[in-house]
Amino acid sequence: MATDLSLRESEEIQGDILAGFKKDNVSILFLKFEDAARARDWLRKLTPQISTTREVATFNEAFSEAKAASGGDDPKSLTATWLGISFTYEGLLMLSGSDPLPTLPQGDTGLKAFKEGAARRAGGLGDTGDNSPENWLFGNGRTQSVHAVLKISADTEKDLQAAVEAQRIAAAECRVVIVYQQNAKTLLGSRRGKEHFGFKDGISEPGVKGFDRPSPSDPEQVDGHPGTRIIPAGEFICGLENDQFSFPKDQYPAWTHNGSFQVVRRLAQDVPGWWSQVAVKLGELRTAKAVPDHATTEWLAARMVGRWRSGAPVCHFPDRDVPNNPTAAKDNAFDFADDPEGLVTPLWSHLRKTEPRAGLQESPDKPPFPAKDLNGRRIIRRGTPYGEPFDPASEGPGGPDDPRGLLFVCYQADLKRQFEFIQASWMDRANFPPNRNSQDTTPPGHANPRPVPGRDPVTQNCTDPDTGEVTPVDYESRDTGGLIRHTPLNFAQFVQTTGSVYAFMPSLSILRGLCEGRLAPVGGQTGQSGTQTGGQTGQIGGQPRPQPVKAYPCDEFVSVPDQYRRAGQSQYWAFHGDRCRLISIADGTAHTDRRVEDDTWLTSWTCLRDVGRVDCVLPVPDQQDPAGKSVYWVFHSTAGRQQYRLVSITCGGGRYTTALERSDRDLTYWGSLSGVGQVDCWLPVPDQQRVGGKSWYWCFHTTGGRQQYRLISIADGTAHTDVRERTDRELSQWGSLNGLNRVDCFLPVPDCQRVGGSSEYWVFSGQNYRRISIADGSGHPDRLVSGDRSCDAWASLS
Ligand code: HEM
Repeated sequence: MATDLSLRESEEIQGDILAGFKKDNVSILFLKFEDAARARDWLRKLTPQISTTREVATFNEAFSEAKAASGGDDPKSLTATWLGISFTYEGLLMLSGSDPLPTLPQGDTGLKAFKEGAARRAGGLGDTGDNSPENWLFGNGRTQSVHAVLKISADTEKDLQAAVEAQRIAAAECRVVIVYQQNAKTLLGSRRGKEHFGFKDGISEPGVKGFDRPSPSDPEQVDGHPGTRIIPAGEFICGLENDQFSFPKDQYPAWTHNGSFQVVRRLAQDVPGWWSQVAVKLGELRTAKAVPDHATTEWLAARMVGRWRSGAPVCHFPDRDVPNNPTAAKDNAFDFADDPEGLVTPLWSHLRKTEPRAGLQESPDKPPFPAKDLNGRRIIRRGTPYGEPFDPASEGPGGPDDPRGLLFVCYQADLKRQFEFIQASWMDRANFPPNRNSQDTTPPGHANPRPVPGRDPVTQNCTDPDTGEVTPVDYESRDTGGLIRHTPLNFAQFVQTTGSVYAFMPSLSILRGLCEGRLAPVGGQTGQSGTQTGGQTGQIGGQPRPQPVKAYPCDEFVSVPDQYRRAGQSQYWAFHGDRCRLISIADGTAHTDRRVEDDTWLTSWTCLRDVGRVDCVLPVPDQQDPAGKSVYWVFHSTAGRQQYRLVSITCGGGRYTTALERSDRDLTYWGSLSGVGQVDCWLPVPDQQRVGGKSWYWCFHTTGGRQQYRLISIADGTAHTDVRERTDRELSQWGSLNGLNRVDCFLPVPDCQRVGGSSEYWVFSGQNYRRISIADGSGHPDRLVSGDRSCDAWASLS
């Protein structure tokens, strides 16, 4: 039977949950909405840029193949910038205008944890004392609320900066405030893949049914990853099949389906403090003669983690690290069933505290639970280190006091049974594994009474911050007579919680619903019909159309090639956000406009596959044939970076067939656009079209955070050689655009082109438009024909 891997194709589930972004450069923006309606406008523009599982999984697969083909080098040409968006309970409430959880299931559930938020759950999670919300930089529930969390991940710092800058502008335009920005990046060189204490991280992740390919020899494990068990997808994606012991899948509200709950924690690490403590504890163990002579600080630290720095598990390599062994570095094929006392990998090691695998006993006299009984406790971790690595010789970045730590991110379907349970009931509970305290009696085979195992010494403390009670870690070793000795070790805490948020990462169709103020699914991916309707009604590809929204701010108008000034009417495709509608404008003084067809998703255009939003379109000057095929350059920002592609529209019998003529390229292919950040719109110079084999354009672009314009020319012919004809000018130098910070697009007034020596244009900017005229001839004097009005005046756009 063929393996079902349909989750790899999901265009509903956001990227990063199942298909990790896996990028070196990360920025998380914690956002607050000042105005719900504007926040929905912001979300409408953002939604098309949000990555899907399909996109990320496809990219990751291509990347791995290219890497393997090149003998292990990262393929530099394969880059992507990914965006993921999640919302807190308050954020969902604001966007939808209604309580997402008006009633809660009985008891302390993951849904209740989400509604309460991380700050109110702090007490039960060890976020007290220095870790308490009052010391947090975000999410403390008191100062600035967090409504949304935007995770941006890119291959290079430059790409990340550009994407963050674009998101900053988009947020500011809609009164979405950045409450806190946390950057994080993979450590470099020999520290690549490691967290700041110096240990390889991100090795043990669960396999997911329907996403990860099972091994032909053992279908319960991921192919090529021995020891990585496949877990039901419903443990991470709400509403899907989950484990029998988990929260019943049909009790998740419909809006959670195909989404996942996200925990984001900023965990500060005191690296020199942690390592000097290891040295002190090693000294204590040496004095107690509890460790072999060859034990070093590395040896003890590896036991605290459960793996060596390289990632090699202590249970397979008990004596020393094997730094140059790539197989050992990702070894996951182990459990602890043969080490019930924790004599090799201590019971309190971070690995056994966070995922006890087969090895967890109800009490020392009971057989271990099978590993699959803990399916419902797994989490998917997507953390990245932040701050410069510790360099003892540095006074600046890298110095001991420079902030550094782990930007911890994890996904799960149930905050209570997964993240909170691991944190509170395993890592932070001294009596876990349970029922080991023999009180004052010495169990057979032991040299002294057996205490509780103690808390996780990688992240926690031995002292209860509320009661002051100290519960040491139980270091177990064999004495010379073969008896098990228990040596108490007190660890202080060198990881501090400095921010925490619980958020929910919804499906793409719920995101579209939220754009319209509803916590319900809307629309979705449409079929690839290959044809656009023009002058016809109906659904594209048999898919539902989007819910009605206003079509402004407008991104671009494209004239329907064979419907320009036909019987006194001109038709245009009006692009806005992730949609497009067909409108018509009548000749005559009133220029009566009407909507010919409702919005369709951009994705229903074959040539716009994977385009989240059209920024602007430039008709190729010498390839316009209203009765046949016309060719266009389409500029679009998908995943935060602008690219352009070549597309065609062929007219015939009232139907329009679109095709992708050449796939995306970077702006750097255009010599005339050198230095341009993003092209916003084009305005053809009216009397300089195809004159002497050349066409001239004013190119309006946003570079360095502000819009400017430059003059360029494009030659006819196959090469379409482009030249920058004049350097950039400020918008304020264009008289009729006075007062505008940005032009979204120009729409030539159809019956006022080169009439009496001048041409008129509607200029769209945000919620408003104005009308200007440009005279032919040198200098192209321009003037304002009529001042700003609300786009509401356009019946076709409202
Ligand atoms: C600064 C804090 C932390 C550090 C330095 C840290 C470090 C590590 C390291 C080095 C590993 C081994 C690599 C691997 O197996 O993937 C690991 C594994 C793991 N950590 Fe953490 N961690 C931290 C916080 C947390 C927190 C807060 C949680 C959850 C509440 C957590 C859960 C896990 C889990 C589930 C594993 C995998 C265990 C397994 O499946 O064998 N960690 N961590």
